[in-house]
Amino acid sequence: MCGIVGYIGAEEAAPILLDGLERLEYRGYDSAGLAVYSQDDGLRVVKAKGRLRVLADLVEGGKNIHGTVGLGHTRWATHGEPSDVNSHPQVSASGRIAVVHNGIIENYVQIKEFLESKGVGFVSQTDTEVVAQLLEYYYRGNIMEAVTKVLHRIEGAYALGIICADCPDQLIAARKDSPLILGYGEGFNFLASDVTAVIKYTREVCYLEDGEIAVLTRDGIRVFNHPYLQPVEKEKHHVDWEVSAAEKGGYEHFMAKEIMEQPKAFRDTVFPRIQDGRVVLDDLNLDGDYLRETDKIYIIACGSSYHVGMVAKYILEKLLRKPVEVSLASEFRYCDPLVTEKTLCIVISQSGETIDTLAALREAKRLGARILSIVNVVGSSIARESDDVLYTWAGPEIAVATTKAYSTQLAVIYLIALRFAELLGTISGEIYDHIVSELLTIPTKMEHILENREAIQYYASIYFNHESIFFIGRNIDYAIGLEGSLKLKEISYIHSEAYAAGELKHGTISLIEQGTLVVALASCTQLFDKLMSNVVEVKSRGADVLGLTVESRAEAMKKTVDHAILVPDTHPMLLPSLDVLPMQLFAYYVALMRGCDIDKPRNLAKSVTVE
Ligand code: F6R
Repeated sequence: MCGIVGYIGAEEAAPILLDGLERLEYRGYDSAGLAVYSQDDGLRVVKAKGRLRVLADLVEGGKNIHGTVGLGHTRWATHGEPSDVNSHPQVSASGRIAVVHNGIIENYVQIKEFLESKGVGFVSQTDTEVVAQLLEYYYRGNIMEAVTKVLHRIEGAYALGIICADCPDQLIAARKDSPLILGYGEGFNFLASDVTAVIKYTREVCYLEDGEIAVLTRDGIRVFNHPYLQPVEKEKHHVDWEVSAAEKGGYEHFMAKEIMEQPKAFRDTVFPRIQDGRVVLDDLNLDGDYLRETDKIYIIACGSSYHVGMVAKYILEKLLRKPVEVSLASEFRYCDPLVTEKTLCIVISQSGETIDTLAALREAKRLGARILSIVNVVGSSIARESDDVLYTWAGPEIAVATTKAYSTQLAVIYLIALRFAELLGTISGEIYDHIVSELLTIPTKMEHILENREAIQYYASIYFNHESIFFIGRNIDYAIGLEGSLKLKEISYIHSEAYAAGELKHGTISLIEQGTLVVALASCTQLFDKLMSNVVEVKSRGADVLGLTVESRAEAMKKTVDHAILVPDTHPMLLPSLDVLPMQLFAYYVALMRGCDIDKPRNLAKSVTVE
């Protein structure tokens, strides 16, 4: 959803901005641009449709655009198709003010009409240009005054970076509902959409809050509230992950690297929270009395995080014997949800910035619910606005298609399920101990699946030319089918559907014909026979079936399917963590064989900060 970066310091800005944009490119990659100021050249703006490398070539890696202060932008188009002119930075008519923006200015049409009535001409179709032109309209020699007036008029979501050629020793940043961090250096400072853009240069950051404006100079950063411009003391945070965590480390794609990192990510998320065989969630302030009073758990999320919620419903209802409702965040706000002070909302988000999820969280809070969030990005908006946060320690996830964040979200669900069941007394000691001991074996079992990935690569080579693929499963296997189908769709562009296996016969089975590929998930052993009956139904209509089950059911499955993927046996509740790996690998290899842009699939972006 667009990435912005700004630098002010003593070095040439352009190479630093390009480097930052490269790390932010996962947020949007249909165009990119730079605005750099120098005394000799004034404010120069270079921007181009296409990937970052198009821009980098234009500016020869930054060698032909000079200055020690500037802004950069990588775009995921919302208003106005991807084109040179719609790329950011957007510049005011006089050419002295340049703006980079992540978000959507909802009332841009009204502002545009107002400015046009005053004789202002527009060159782009973007909502961002109205910010640049409105700044110019209000500018009377004091840029902060103009910024304050503009923020008063614009509605919607924004993270803004602003540079004015009349005061080139400062950058201005402002935020509402779109992420923005500030990075503190010695003699230099940064603004950026997230820490990956600045981590190479500084580990000291702060998170700008909604309604705050920052003024960055070479010597420091001052933050003010809007509209009163009172100074705000910001707490600095130290980022301690390695720079290499946001690099490919020898893999062809971030997605491949992140798939392979899952055993470690799972260990990092789970193992420190198991002490003497008990789940210990120090960061959680919920007790048994609160849980007993809670009449419902609502899970809110989008995309793959929603699919974790689907798995969670099966697990939590089974272990806690409480009703669990799973809602797509984008639907939640508009469905008049039955949420009260007795509702616990579990909000799941890798980025912690997904605007649909954030808006749903706020609505749930307004209705009185308590919010427990599962988030990967420390200090993100969802984390900060929740009553309790359990972080997933997946490290930075760069590939647009999530893998390790998904796995660590699942891991946290297991921990919550065990801890809540213990607090509520709904689990026997024997079952609890069994699940905990199995939980500790999951990373090794994941490693086993990943080491044997050639088999999945082979199946991908057989099926990568199919134009339509179905995933079927029952119970938790159905939830994994949803994720497997989404992974395949988003990176390989193959049409795919996931169905609860028993539901096929109620309509969809009419789509099955000779050679249709059906991926049949049958790891739930108690439903194995039922699922295999559904496999027979599709086979007898000509489908090719790629099955997945646990090793103990290998022989039974192989009799019926064309090919079988096997995962190690474990407690049924934990199987999703194993089942999902072959699904991710299958999608990855299929996309690879189809020559797709795996880390940056078309039309997508990570961290969706627009509704
Ligand atoms: C799919 C994927 C998306 C995200 C969704 C929610 O691979 O990554 O479906 O899961 O956009 O994002 P977060 O979890 O950041 O709220």
